[in-house]
Amino acid sequence: MKHLLSLFDLTVEDLQRILATASHLKDRLHKGDRPPVLERRVLALLFEKPSLRTRVSFETGMAQLGGSSLFLGEDVGWGKRESPSDFTNVLGQFVDAVVCRTKKHDRATQLAHYNAMPVINGLTDLCHPCQAMADVLTIREAFGSEEGKHLVFVGDGNNVSSSLALICAMLKMKFTLACPENYELDSDWLCRVLEKYPEATIDQTCNVDQAVSTADAIYTDVWTSMGQEEESAIRRKAFSDFQVNESLMSKAPDHARVLHCLPAVRGEEITDGVIDSDQSDVISQAGNRMHAQKGLLAWLLNPQWVDQNI
Ligand code: CP
Ligand code: NVA
Repeated sequence: MKHLLSLFDLTVEDLQRILATASHLKDRLHKGDRPPVLERRVLALLFEKPSLRTRVSFETGMAQLGGSSLFLGEDVGWGKRESPSDFTNVLGQFVDAVVCRTKKHDRATQLAHYNAMPVINGLTDLCHPCQAMADVLTIREAFGSEEGKHLVFVGDGNNVSSSLALICAMLKMKFTLACPENYELDSDWLCRVLEKYPEATIDQTCNVDQAVSTADAIYTDVWTSMGQEEESAIRRKAFSDFQVNESLMSKAPDHARVLHCLPAVRGEEITDGVIDSDQSDVISQAGNRMHAQKGLLAWLLNPQWVDQNI
């Protein structure tokens, strides 16, 4: 059974197929065509943290594909009312797949352990694979191709930047993390990326001006992720020189696009002037969450349709 706990679960070929399916379904949607690729299939969303984009994009994506979804919050008692095996095996009796958003990555791994249904990571503390797929789709649309492009992430070595470093390695993009000391990518994660993709170009630097000088896309995310709220004062101080603002953008090439996974803390990691500028793609990037995930769902749950149509 296939799961998407991280992008390590995909081959480059799988990823390309998912992205091609996403673009195909997006084009058809814009022509008013919503093929029922997942008719009567049911997707569960099991979330331990808040969400706008991930929840709504999966729910609307399923509806557009002819399936349905159900949101499972705290009240289902995951990890509280019954054993993990009973919970998971029972859920697998009802749904075709589950998207989970967990505080700890191990919880997502545990859900996949029983192979009761395919498990899709909708964000954990370790990574955010669905976000990275939508981000690449956005870069592909902006430049025609992502290969050889330089993505500079200004901010934390967190779940979002970790998935971006990996997807860049998979798709032959250059990746730079510009961050303060001690906020680099998780070293085990980076080792795994470089072990699997030894040709990858991944740099980490404190020199943000130099990093953005060759950027095709400048990406940022909150300085304090969900679950790190107690560190927010320390982080605000540590990241104060790593804001994506007009001054930083003046050091980047004119063609550079601005990305953010959202939600943003405007005035912290990014200014209103930059996020609302003509260089910013953040709204269409958020829209691409749905398109990328439709490609993923079709590939995961109806591979025959993908083989016949892509
Ligand atoms: N980018 C993202 O995952 O947004 P949500 O937290 O709103 O789902
Ligand atoms: N790094 C952020 C991403 C939110 C989509 C967080 O984990 O809170």
